[in-house]
Amino acid sequence: MRSIINEKNLKNKIVLLRLDLNVPLEKNKITDTTRIDKILPTLNFLINEKAKILILSHIGRPKGKFVKELSLEPICDELQNKLGKKVKLITKNVKEIKKNSFFNNHNEEIFILENIRFYSEEEQNDNKFAKILSNLADIYVNDAFSCSHRAHASIYEIPKFLPSFSGLQLDLEVNALNKITSEITRPITCIIGGSKISTKINVIKNLVPKFNNIVIVGGMANNFIEFCGNNIGKSIKENNCDQIIKEIIDLTKKENCKIFYPEDVIVSKNLNGTPKKREVNEISSDEMVLDIGPKTIEKIKNIIDDSKTILWNGPAGYFENPNFAKGSIQIAKKIIENNKVNKIFSVVGGGDTVSLLNNLNAVNNFNFVSTAGGAFLEYLEGKNLPGITALN
Ligand code: 3PG
Repeated sequence: MRSIINEKNLKNKIVLLRLDLNVPLEKNKITDTTRIDKILPTLNFLINEKAKILILSHIGRPKGKFVKELSLEPICDELQNKLGKKVKLITKNVKEIKKNSFFNNHNEEIFILENIRFYSEEEQNDNKFAKILSNLADIYVNDAFSCSHRAHASIYEIPKFLPSFSGLQLDLEVNALNKITSEITRPITCIIGGSKISTKINVIKNLVPKFNNIVIVGGMANNFIEFCGNNIGKSIKENNCDQIIKEIIDLTKKENCKIFYPEDVIVSKNLNGTPKKREVNEISSDEMVLDIGPKTIEKIKNIIDDSKTILWNGPAGYFENPNFAKGSIQIAKKIIENNKVNKIFSVVGGGDTVSLLNNLNAVNNFNFVSTAGGAFLEYLEGKNLPGITALN
């Protein structure tokens, strides 16, 4: 993998820069800018080298269709403010754009193409689409470690057509995760939560042999609660997961890895409703699980106390509503407490988890903070990530 930082002669070269600008948005406003802040060094490096920058990114999951709420416009504005430079959003169909439509004025340094997932070809990893995109630039840089587990056109195919490099943030994440995985101290606990169940559930099986404890919270815990014969009402869950859950549970027994999922939960009738505590066998059909309960919090705290390394990916509940943030906050506080007295080594990953820690002003209390969610877990799993493979 060649890093862009070692490249000379970038002057006037058009750099197709894949970033992960998939930041949380609420009513068109960015609620956490970490992913933007982290890629500023790469942008500043390219600006100093006098390269011309053409940014590619996705936001959300529009599934190949234009979705107004998932426009990169607010992100474009934020980048412009942070860089103090004009950043122009290109809304025209990329298949109709020519290379000579950009950078014709001397003050045009940065363009950003509209959400690349508005095109179905992106997730289909379409070779022709990648070729069209690559025709717009001279070189390609991937600074989106958090998307590098996706074999998508802008991650996996473009490097087939252009000289390709890693960006500064991708280098940092890969180096840190390599160091962590080679110098890890046992007992190791992995806490997995969040709402992207489909991305994470298949990863767990491969993590079982590597960890002493796996703690399942967030959306995925609902699948485990239901698997144990409980009603989960209107809670989010992934369909057809019983077989994989059975395999995970069987494997934990074989590998001597303890798996823990909630014993009690906080439910409500909707995302803004009144919170109520329930044992997992007391959830009614019109309720949804939105956080872990007090008994579960205490058990997780004990597991943290008995661990030397903690990897945490994904919040324990719907933390955006303070009524359902307690589980995530208590986990964060316990890790911070043990980290401060050097009792544990802590690594945290994922856009939502980082946003939660920013709200608590606590990102600096962890040993390493990764912007990546699914990619972080797949890297820990020991998988070759398509985005990294493509750069190699
Ligand atoms: C993330 O938020 O983890 C990345 O932006 C990837 O998003 P995805 O899970 O929708 O592919």
